[in-house]
Amino acid sequence: PVRLIVDTDTAGDDVNSLLIALLHPNIQLEAVTISVGNVGFEQQIENALYTIEMAGRSGQVPVYPGCAVPLVNEWVAADYVHGRDGMGDSFFPRARQRPEPQHAVDALIERIHAAPGELTILAQAPLTNIAVAVTRDPSIARKVKTLYIMGGTYFAPGNITPAAEYNFYVDPEAARIVFRAGFDIRLVDWGLCVRDTVLDDGDLEDIRRLDTELARFYLQVNRVVRQFNETVGIRGVTHPDSIVAAMIADPAIARGWQPCQVDIETRGELTRGASVITPAQYAGVEKRVERPNAQVCLGADRERFKALLMDILARR
Ligand code: BDR
Ligand code: CA
Repeated sequence: PVRLIVDTDTAGDDVNSLLIALLHPNIQLEAVTISVGNVGFEQQIENALYTIEMAGRSGQVPVYPGCAVPLVNEWVAADYVHGRDGMGDSFFPRARQRPEPQHAVDALIERIHAAPGELTILAQAPLTNIAVAVTRDPSIARKVKTLYIMGGTYFAPGNITPAAEYNFYVDPEAARIVFRAGFDIRLVDWGLCVRDTVLDDGDLEDIRRLDTELARFYLQVNRVVRQFNETVGIRGVTHPDSIVAAMIADPAIARGWQPCQVDIETRGELTRGASVITPAQYAGVEKRVERPNAQVCLGADRERFKALLMDILARR
């Protein structure tokens, strides 16, 4: 199995992603680190702990609180997308497991050094924790096996501004640091998620019919995002984070990867947080693409993803 750490701002689809990471046999989830993002920081910690409990894994996967504010920006919440608690306004009870006393950045550095070349990271939140870790210890970049990142825009406009996707918008400086640090990066952008990962009412009905505790949990957590998506013309639940977890568990879900040069706009008056993605075939035309720093995902197999998600939700 893939030895994985998930860096998350636990709300909505972050939860679906964690369920896959916790329950798929091809993934060995070794730690969860919490980053500034969707909702209040303490709430995100509770959401991760509650999700671990729902997966029947209480006490088995440590949760490390990390950076609670972006490097430079003011924090921008996304509670209007996911509900005030990030869990579809469910206000679940407190989980039994408690967070670890160690800071996420220290835990990341320590764990990467303890298993050089072995750990995969899924970064599904603003990149603050990863940026601080690699700034403190640049040697970790080459010691992480693969860093999967959900963020940016390639196949469609942004979701927080026309130019920017939420994770990069919240902490553009962090995103820039991470893309320049020398990690082996695989990027899944917001546009792919809108095009290839939406589960509509028919799909949600299939999930309801599973009639399991996890299926009910999924439907409840994703209730508010379903309603929000309707207001922006998306008919169903989007799966930006969980599609990446699914690709890690089953690489055939990804329909190809393109070597690209990726950088993040940190100053644009209208474009702060925008990802600037240039495919490697433009090397020579644009000097800066001579050395691609990421593989950008070209598409996802929606049916295969849905089957994987349903298999996870059927387990409990
Ligand atoms: C990203 O923002 C969050 O709300 C989602 O979990 C995802 O990581 C999509 O822009
Ligand atoms: Ca997220």
